[in-house]
Amino acid sequence: MDLTVAGNRAELAGARRPGSYALVPTMGALHDGHRSLIRLAHEQADHVIVSIFVNPLQFGPGEDFGRYPRTFEHDLEVCGEEGVSVVFAPAVEDMYLPDRQVSVSAGAMGTVAEGAFRPGHFDGVLTVVLKLFNLTRPDVAVFGQKDAQQLALIRRMVADLDVPVTIVAGQTVREPDGLALSSRNRYLSPDDRATALYLSKALRAGAASPHRAKEAAKAVLEEAARLKPPLLLDYLTLADPATFDEVPAGHRGEAILAVAAKVGTTRLIDNVVLTV
Ligand code: PAF
Repeated sequence: MDLTVAGNRAELAGARRPGSYALVPTMGALHDGHRSLIRLAHEQADHVIVSIFVNPLQFGPGEDFGRYPRTFEHDLEVCGEEGVSVVFAPAVEDMYLPDRQVSVSAGAMGTVAEGAFRPGHFDGVLTVVLKLFNLTRPDVAVFGQKDAQQLALIRRMVADLDVPVTIVAGQTVREPDGLALSSRNRYLSPDDRATALYLSKALRAGAASPHRAKEAAKAVLEEAARLKPPLLLDYLTLADPATFDEVPAGHRGEAILAVAAKVGTTRLIDNVVLTV
């Protein structure tokens, strides 16, 4: 079936066909990680909608909203190749009323780990995700495990606000050397990339010794802090998957080892799920 590109909410409504829908929300700059989410979405519903919207609400002052990669023609090719039914790519003015007042609060879970370094980020994410759910009315929505705290918060929002959608998680896709795919990887110079590899190296070290996961990962990150360019750590946490609070000493069960760091001008995140 042909790909329909809906540039506003009226075109989106006009593109609706009978059958079930799976939504893959994105900010564009699509890569193989997005392709794997789209393939997973096809397993869930008759039609797949991909939204492409660089959401200003989730970028803080001084973050990369202005220079976030925008590759719309390429993204349409990817969606065409992957059999997507509808691409929803609204303008900022079509998404947000100039006098908008009400937004979603991510609560305490939005202020820890990634939220401590990006105040307001998760409020912006949840607000746009809820709006995308309301506009596209999907049966299922697919999100990547790479943004683990975002995924956990979206599940929380769906449970707390009774949003009628099923959330499905897609595994993180990695380069053969371990680097997690990200739209921001294109900012990395070859030297930056060599340093950035230490993020996944640290997580592998942690996963190999779950009883001392954080210490093992920390040792690798300390090595990376001495490289040129250095890896500048924002945080390393062994988090409770339900709250994203640091797990207490002696914790048994599932935990998420999550890391965020800057390499050069690029900020990267990664995580691995462990059973301690
Ligand atoms: O993960 C992303 O790309 C964004 O945070 C999302 C979910 C599309 C909301 O803007």
